[in-house]
Amino acid sequence: MNSSDALAVEAGLDPARRPAHVAIIMDGNGRWAKKRLLNRVKGHEQGADTVRMVVRASRELGISVLTLYAFSTENWQRPEAEVKALMMLLKRFLKSEKQEMLDNNIRLNAIGEVERLPGSVSTLLQETMQATENNSGMVLNLALSYGARPEIIRMVRQLSAKVAAGNLQAEEIDEETVSTHLYTRNIPDPDLLIRTSGEMRISNFMLWQIAYAEIYITDTLWPDFNRAEYIKILKDYQERDRRFGKVKNQ
Ligand code: IPE
Ligand code: IPE
Ligand code: MG
Repeated sequence: MNSSDALAVEAGLDPARRPAHVAIIMDGNGRWAKKRLLNRVKGHEQGADTVRMVVRASRELGISVLTLYAFSTENWQRPEAEVKALMMLLKRFLKSEKQEMLDNNIRLNAIGEVERLPGSVSTLLQETMQATENNSGMVLNLALSYGARPEIIRMVRQLSAKVAAGNLQAEEIDEETVSTHLYTRNIPDPDLLIRTSGEMRISNFMLWQIAYAEIYITDTLWPDFNRAEYIKILKDYQERDRRFGKVKNQ
């Protein structure tokens, strides 16, 4: 048994039934701050600590891919000061966690329109992705300036260009073709999708990839989300019967 299997067992999890890919819509930073009469940015700062916790816990428990929805294409419409603060926090996170990722064999990946990020953020992002590209313990996949519809549009454009150039037949397009033209081409679909802060919506996140994800929505605001609750959700996931349209035990 390797160390993450041992830690998973210690946490009450069955290594064989662990989700390979956990995706999280990290929501509720603003409301966490508002409850305390603080500026929303304080909520994002506190949320960054939860990000560190969830990355560490996922690695320890043997999750293969952790996707964090950190900034949506729609989030560009927030007040300029908030967007700036989020970009600053992202830079701070990348700087402070680079060594942690190297030490723990974590590979950083990003999905989304990363070319829209400020130059200093995208430089740091590229550097960190490059520095960690040979790591194999876990993929930390950050959804940054990500929206599922723009991702789908990009895929459709790429495929139509190939068809127009005569390099692809329309009849050849199948699920595999579509999957390999999304940002997530090298990543399996999420098994478990968690959303914090109680909102019952998807907010333009991975519309194609979550076709059969198990969904868990918790009322906990992201800055209050902790390791114990994360493990509780992973246990809940393990108890579920994933039928994929078939009947039990088929
Ligand atoms: C999630 O918290 C962080 C981002 C979307 C960047 P919010 O900022 O959406 O917090 P609420 O939903 O306003 O509480
Ligand atoms: C979704 O949260 C996006 C991220 C967590 C990055 P939002 O707070 O932006 O979503 P809505 O506005 O509640 O749909
Ligand atoms: Mg929100």
